[in-house]
Amino acid sequence: MIKIQNLKKYYGKELIINNISLEIKKGEIYAIVGHSGAGKSTLLRCINGLETYEEGSLKVFDLELRNLQKKPKELRALRKNIGMIFQNFALMEHKNVFENVAMPLNIHFTQSKIYSKLFDKAFMGEKEMKARINSLLEIVGLSHKMYSYPKELSGGQKQRVAIARALTLNPKILLSDEATSALDPNTTKNILELIAQINRELGITVVLVTHEMEVVKDIAQKALLLEYGQIIGDGNVEELFLKPNPKMKEFLGENDFLPKQGLNIKLYFPKEVAQKSIITHMARTLDIDFNIVWGKIEKLNGTALGNLVININKADTTKVLNYLKKSGVLWELVDE
Ligand SMILES: Nc1ncnc2c1ncn2[C@@H]1O[C@H](COP(=O)(O)OP(=O)(O)OP(=O)(O)O)[C@@H](O)[C@H]1O
Ligand SMILES: [Mg+2]
Repeated sequence: MIKIQNLKKYYGKELIINNISLEIKKGEIYAIVGHSGAGKSTLLRCINGLETYEEGSLKVFDLELRNLQKKPKELRALRKNIGMIFQNFALMEHKNVFENVAMPLNIHFTQSKIYSKLFDKAFMGEKEMKARINSLLEIVGLSHKMYSYPKELSGGQKQRVAIARALTLNPKILLSDEATSALDPNTTKNILELIAQINRELGITVVLVTHEMEVVKDIAQKALLLEYGQIIGDGNVEELFLKPNPKMKEFLGENDFLPKQGLNIKLYFPKEVAQKSIITHMARTLDIDFNIVWGKIEKLNGTALGNLVININKADTTKVLNYLKKSGVLWELVDE
């Protein structure tokens, strides 16, 4: 659905997107993560054709976006298929909820020079338009606020209006630029649930830009970590969090404080064994002592997954490794 190869984008002489390649498939929820200034928004703006690029290839629906820059009609047709939401909601303060959600219809038809009375009637009559907006407001749970103005809404409600508006033209892709960054944790959760529901029920591909790891863990299936315009890690969310590469570890602030004595073993609990009390069972069965150095349970996409470093006596190495091999737990020695 979105295919990027060796993409480079400059602002003046500054290289902002540095040789990025990625593929986002239909129906995925894909997160782009990174610190402020990493180039996340720039990348998103390239994807919807608001920015162009100097080198490499960026295809959406198999169309090379650079080639569309001089073809406004085709670029518009493409943008119709890409909805976008932002941190600050970007609603029209003087229009009510209904009018805000209806705006893309008006703009699209006006720009397409088909907003003549005749065509308007033929293409989308008032009744049809109202039905469309009503069903969108129902999806985002705001039917009862149809005639309210943005200043009368909470942050979460404003974002719901923005989401409905992003869906007005029936897009195939939803781009989200820090859509939950201005919201409290509870509201964030609700909005993420709504985005996941839209992805699931309407089959819309979602690209999420965020600096919040919790957002990624909550709903993304794949993620890409961006630093100074470069990819420093990408892949399935489970792998990224449970087997982070050194850069990812740094980003997560995960410092391994490893004891110098004994042997340190890092255990990964895949889905099947995450809930089992493997550690206590091991201690009982092998009749050994060991220390837990650090550990954490992550909830990724609703599944609990574990990650634990234990420190054993060197004398117990064979026993423990034999046990682990049989247990189904993934492990690695983490001593340097
Ligand atoms: N229109 C512009 N002109 C010149 N430089 C720009 C422009 N927009 C962004 N930049 C620069 O590009 C770099 C990446 O900016 P971008 O907005 O993509 O970062 P970001 O990862 O979205 O950051 P944040 O998390 O703060 O939103 C920054 O160094 C920024 O100063
Ligand atoms: Mg940004």
